[in-house]
Amino acid sequence: MFELKAKNQWLKAKSQLPLLFAICSLCERIPFPEMPTNMNKLITREQIAESVARIGQEITRDYAGQTVILVGVLKGACLFLSDLARQIELDATFDFIAVRSYGTKKESAGEVQLIKDVTTPLEDKNVILVEDILDTGFTYTFLRKLLLARKPRTLKFAALLDKPSRRQMPVEADYVGFKIPDEFVVGYGLDYAERFRNLPDICVFSEDAGK
Ligand code: IMP
Ligand code: MG
Repeated sequence: MFELKAKNQWLKAKSQLPLLFAICSLCERIPFPEMPTNMNKLITREQIAESVARIGQEITRDYAGQTVILVGVLKGACLFLSDLARQIELDATFDFIAVRSYGTKKESAGEVQLIKDVTTPLEDKNVILVEDILDTGFTYTFLRKLLLARKPRTLKFAALLDKPSRRQMPVEADYVGFKIPDEFVVGYGLDYAERFRNLPDICVFSEDAGK
């Protein structure tokens, strides 16, 4: 009885195999959305890895024997922070903060608003703010004031990219990966309208990318 039931089930499943193969073959024909190939790489993943390792060594040396809190600015700094943290040979913890800056998709209008605060008390702690890019300086000026009000022991700023020619506020980063020209870039966390953050290299954004 049991054997007969199992045999019937097998025959039923077998009869559906052609349908399964048809679905698989159809899926192979549907184009999978690929990464845009028409953007020029400005900084390769290998160069990024080298630079992140160098910044990690600098931080390890500067804070030898101490603990640090890395505060990543969401969402752009999440990839940089996760790679950097693994290059820091210290007792380090993380927290995250999120801001919104008004303006067009490519230009900041200078108004920054906090949308998510850190949850760790920062008083008397060594805080390193971690950002994807320092551009006009409005975001860092806003965050520096906010974090200094929490009375950290020290506050430093690590930015993977720096566009000095765009600066409108008198601020500099303590740790910089690359100084870049006035180009809008995407990849390795940086976005254009939330897209392209997962590109492993940093590319100069092109209007017709991914169309
Ligand atoms: P700032 O306030 O003008 O210094 O800009 C900081 C923020 O602007 C960064 O955290 C980025 O989110 C964004 N941003 C500035 N330049 C670029 C860029 O070239 N690509 C992507 N985002 C950028
Ligand atoms: Mg952004």
